[in-house]
Amino acid sequence: MTAGLLACVRAAFDGVAVAEPFLRDWPSTGAVRAVEPATLPVCRWLEGMGYAGVIGELRAAAAQLRWQQTYGAADFGHDFLQGYGWSEFIGLRGPIPSTQIACGVLLLGPHITYPAHAHAAEEVYLPIFGQADWQQGDTPFAPVPVGQPIHHAPWVPHAMRVGAEPLAALYLWRGGDLAAKSVILGA
Ligand SMILES: [Fe+2]
Repeated sequence: MTAGLLACVRAAFDGVAVAEPFLRDWPSTGAVRAVEPATLPVCRWLEGMGYAGVIGELRAAAAQLRWQQTYGAADFGHDFLQGYGWSEFIGLRGPIPSTQIACGVLLLGPHITYPAHAHAAEEVYLPIFGQADWQQGDTPFAPVPVGQPIHHAPWVPHAMRVGAEPLAALYLWRGGDLAAKSVILGA
């Protein structure tokens, strides 16, 4: 985890109103935990994302990050696992320890649908690459451009549908179990 990536991620959230309560708990002790790097099939989509802004820092750090999956093939099928993964920067498991917030990045490959799920944590997503369709509660899927934050209140069902372009989205979590597996509502 490079300081450059962390600073860039923080800068991306600065000025995002819905992120403010999370940023109050942004770690400032400088503590770092050793994390074993691990890659996933979904990381191949980083190559086509260019180098602009936080994407460039993410790509530079990607090989040192631990890319993980919360789900198994029994949850959303094998194809989903080929196009899904996340890396935690801050939290219970990531390189920057925190028990108050989690922060990381989610990657989804082209044409991946992340079915409806919910969790106790309050969440903010900030897309940094790709324009996916997002759904929350009973509302229809709607496209969300890069830079437009998405706020999920605790236990609000949400889903994502990725088109031809892959998706990269920063996330923040607070409240609830910061390492919890989401409850699956649709598959
Ligand atoms: Fe979520």
